[in-house]
Amino acid sequence: MSGHASNYEPKSAFAKWFHERLPIMDMVQGQALDFPTPKNLNYWWTFGGILAVMLVVQIITGVVLAMHYTPHVSMAFQSVEGIMRDVNSGWLIRYLHSNGASMFFIAVYIHMFRGMYYGSYKAPREVLWMIGVLIYLVMMATAFMGYVLPWGQMSFWGAKVITNLFSAIPWVGDSITTLLWGGYSVDNPTLNRFFSLHYLLPFVLAGLVVLHIWALHVVGNNNPTGVSVKSPQDTIPFSPYYTVKDAFAIVVFFMFYAAWVFFSPNYLGHAINYQEANPLVTPAHIVPEWYYLPFYAILRAIPDKLGGVIAMFGSILILFALPWLDTSKVRSGTYRPIFKQFFWLFAINCVILGFAGSGAPDNYFLSHEPADPDKWALTYKLVGQICTAYYFLHFLVILPLLGLLETPKPLPASISDAVLAKSHPSTAYVPAE
Ligand code: HEM
Repeated sequence: MSGHASNYEPKSAFAKWFHERLPIMDMVQGQALDFPTPKNLNYWWTFGGILAVMLVVQIITGVVLAMHYTPHVSMAFQSVEGIMRDVNSGWLIRYLHSNGASMFFIAVYIHMFRGMYYGSYKAPREVLWMIGVLIYLVMMATAFMGYVLPWGQMSFWGAKVITNLFSAIPWVGDSITTLLWGGYSVDNPTLNRFFSLHYLLPFVLAGLVVLHIWALHVVGNNNPTGVSVKSPQDTIPFSPYYTVKDAFAIVVFFMFYAAWVFFSPNYLGHAINYQEANPLVTPAHIVPEWYYLPFYAILRAIPDKLGGVIAMFGSILILFALPWLDTSKVRSGTYRPIFKQFFWLFAINCVILGFAGSGAPDNYFLSHEPADPDKWALTYKLVGQICTAYYFLHFLVILPLLGLLETPKPLPASISDAVLAKSHPSTAYVPAE
């Protein structure tokens, strides 16, 4: 890793001997402990650390679950029930893992929206951002395959709906679906390959996270002002300042996580997944986990299957292009008065998309009544369509235009100036030209 030379001095004869053979402590000191970090990072910057810890929690609980799980259609459901009832603390390990997935997604959404608000995707952090988007895609695939493993009704039918989408791809679609299924329907080979990949992908994620942090350490952290580090006065060493701050945030986040695990462990799941998969009984309403709902709404917004699939994947892939779609020279939303409002509108639009993805398409929005086909009605489908259009409008029209038309507020001359102006308002900073 480049970015910062370390001051590491081996203190004992053994440390010196080891250092000459593997200078790993040198790297730890330079990259983790002494790393110069902007001194004004707020709590939104603790979510990267929270995510890293959550990945470790998911891997550890997952490896323990795999010791007791049987990836076979005739035994998977019972083996999960066995984990819940017979394995010592099995219920805890399983609830930590299933709710851990939701916590992981809450943290990643906060992390991504933080990046969007403060313009962390802009030069020179484009590659860092794009590795992040790749991480997000792999997370989605991993969680999807994990949800299939208990082989409940929603596992089975969710797998069926999502794998079927690939068949819409012209020419190769059917072959891809057959390959995913390992046959001509969702069955034992499908469960086997999903189990294998669900075990593998978290380690791929860990590798991507190493690349992500490497890229971060080459270009350095962004910060709430979006102004680049200009002098050593703008930074403080990562440890102890941010190790302590991150540790505190992780403890608070774990209290939130524990509240779900111990008080409402099934709230974020689907009751119907406690019924074993039955290929002959289709559930009345097939819905994915909450973290996929906005994309599910986009998929259903387009009346054509292939169109829906393109829109759904397009809505994620467009994030790769974000650094070039946002034309503003100013990074942080703090100094972009109009962007700030559009940012919040976009966030609300994503939440509404989530609601739109949760209901049966032809029902009235936020009511269980089926819509009258002869009357104009605000259905889940219609709301999904409006919000889908706005989602793409935000990236393809609003962001590119806003960067050209908006007049940003004056930026502080440096991070230190912004910090001083906050703690001593009388020493107001001089805006940079
Ligand atoms: C397993 C998932 C992930 C882990 C463990 C992770 C870890 C981290 C860490 C430790 C940092 C530095 C601290 C911080 O800024 O919070 C960071 C920064 C960053 N991450 Fe992630 N990340 C993950 C996913 C993502 C995703 C999905 C994206 C975007 C799509 C992303 C984009 C960024 C960006 C742009 C920064 C630089 C932030 C700045 O300095 O302003 N990350 N990440």
